[in-house]
Amino acid sequence: MANEIYAEIILDLYKNPANRGIIEDPDVLAEGGNPSCGDHAIFMLKINNGVIEDAKFSGNGCAISVASDSILTELIKGKKVSDAKKISPQDLFSEMGNIIQTRIKCATLGLIVLKKGLEAYEKSAKKKAIIRNITI
Ligand code: FES
Repeated sequence: MANEIYAEIILDLYKNPANRGIIEDPDVLAEGGNPSCGDHAIFMLKINNGVIEDAKFSGNGCAISVASDSILTELIKGKKVSDAKKISPQDLFSEMGNIIQTRIKCATLGLIVLKKGLEAYEKSAKKKAIIRNITI
C-alpha cells in the first residue's frame, strides 16, 4: 500500500479514532507516556474469563500515537489476555505502514503502556490492575 494511503488512514484515525472513551470500573487501567514530548495514553479494559471484551483509550498524543492506540484497541478486542500480550511492534507497523519508521516511539507508546497493564493484570490475584506513570 502506498505511504500516502497509510498517511490518510493515520490522519483519519487521529480525527475520528475508534474506541476513544472511558470504561467505568475497568479491570485494567494503564496510563503512561513519553516525558520528552508530554504525550500520554490511558487504556481501560473489561476482561471476562481471560478474554478482553471491551477496550477503550484516552489521553493526548500526536497523530501517530493516537492512531496506534486506536488500532491497538481494535486488535485486542475479543482476544485472550495471553494472546494480546504477544502483539509485537511489527504487528502494529504492518497496520500503519512504513511511514512510521522514523517515529517508532510515537507508534509504540501505546503498545508499551498496554502491555504493562496486561502484565500487571496477569500477576494480580484479584484480576484487577491499575498502573500509572509508565514512562517510555
Ligand atoms: Fe509524542 Fe508522538 S510526538 S508520542
